[in-house]
Amino acid sequence: MNETNETYRLYFHLTPPAGWLNDPNGLCEYRGRYHVFFQYAPESPLGGRKFWGHYVSPDLIRWKFLGTALCPDTKWDRDGVYSGSAFTEDGFLELFYTGNVKEKGDFDYISAGRGANVLYTKSSSGETFKEKNLLLSNEDYPASYTCHVRDPKVWKENGQYYMILGGRRKNDQGAVMIYSSPDKKTWSLCREMSTREPFGYMWECPDLFEMAGTRFLLCCPQGLEAQQERYQNLYQSGYFVCDDFTLEDQKDYVCHPANFRELDYGFDFYAPQTFTDQQGRRILIGWAGMSEEADYGNDPIIKEGWQHSLTVPRLLSFSDGILRQYPVPELEQLRSRKLSLDSDFIEAPAFDLCLTFGGSDQSVRLNDDLILTCQKGLVTLTFLNGTGCGRTSRCARLKQPDGHMENLRILKDTSLLEIYINDGELVFTTKYFPKNTNRTAVTVTGTVLDAQFWELRRMEVETDENEKKYSAGNR
Ligand code: FRU
Repeated sequence: MNETNETYRLYFHLTPPAGWLNDPNGLCEYRGRYHVFFQYAPESPLGGRKFWGHYVSPDLIRWKFLGTALCPDTKWDRDGVYSGSAFTEDGFLELFYTGNVKEKGDFDYISAGRGANVLYTKSSSGETFKEKNLLLSNEDYPASYTCHVRDPKVWKENGQYYMILGGRRKNDQGAVMIYSSPDKKTWSLCREMSTREPFGYMWECPDLFEMAGTRFLLCCPQGLEAQQERYQNLYQSGYFVCDDFTLEDQKDYVCHPANFRELDYGFDFYAPQTFTDQQGRRILIGWAGMSEEADYGNDPIIKEGWQHSLTVPRLLSFSDGILRQYPVPELEQLRSRKLSLDSDFIEAPAFDLCLTFGGSDQSVRLNDDLILTCQKGLVTLTFLNGTGCGRTSRCARLKQPDGHMENLRILKDTSLLEIYINDGELVFTTKYFPKNTNRTAVTVTGTVLDAQFWELRRMEVETDENEKKYSAGNR
């Protein structure tokens, strides 16, 4: 692929060098470098058998692609190295992930025909992973589960190791299971977490962590019915605040649907994962994509030979009962030229726009392509033409009744937008394929108290494999 033909290749989001990317996996900081693995189907932008791709970075803005860290090459993961997490201890970078196996035959692959293995591998360099060990397989899960069990996330607490797994029960109820282990080798079930009545048929990519004294369960329920202002995507990503949860309690934990809050209201967000870095920050990275979505697509980038990206790393904080997400400050180092809202249009493929508002109703329009409005506490993002490739409209409500948009940050990449409202109370991530990625007319209405506006330069992404170096200015 000739690089210069890649109009929509992103400047400051991680993409697959070629082919398909989905979930972020194995996020960690290990020996002074951040590691971001991801679900990778290198052979086709439309997906295929899953490998783990691998990026490393000293600072979250200069990245190196190390190729594929894990391949589907054993009997336990031959049909896909599915999602999982990293754990670092005793000088090793350890990975726990799902090995997907599909038996040949006439199966539905839900109740039969699928092996959902939890596998383990480790590395002392953080780059090469050799031996794979089988930790859990279908017979180890409770009989109430189908063979959709996956996405282990492992952590240590009070001297014990814990693993959370997402699953689909036989009664089509999404749930998670928590296992514990004294040594990371033998695992036994401690307790399950679910709702009283089914809240979706499957919960994927779970994450359970404590922050500021509060316990959160992040998960991705599939099968929720769309409501006017909630659950507008095919699959959802969000969290339950689990105030009274303890790991010692053996009883199943009941989550309440009324307490479920979505993490992102855009068209393109799924399967987020979090980790704590050496500074003690809880950072979230999501997949800026959505699988199996029939109503909108990504043809312009598929034509370029690649599809999807990750979101920028987002710092998590908890205030007023809301888990807020905000781009990590490191990204500010990509700010270059100052831009002005007074120009008829700005010429920059990527930009960072920070607005502080007074008053009540506001809107921001990019070209005649899309508009974001806030009216009486309802924030709506609407595509006005075909630059959304079938994407139409999404909305979300501020927690404060009749709340206002007090501040707004738009990170615009060539073909991706991340929109943060009120310090990350609401976030919208969406792909966007403007006719001209270099030129945007930005029109703002409402009382703007302050505007900070920068062009963003390209992150450095070095690829080991072909020794190509993509960096600012050389394309
Ligand atoms: C979420 C997911 C995971 C699974 C992976 C396979 O997008 O379906 O549950 O492990 O993708 O690529």
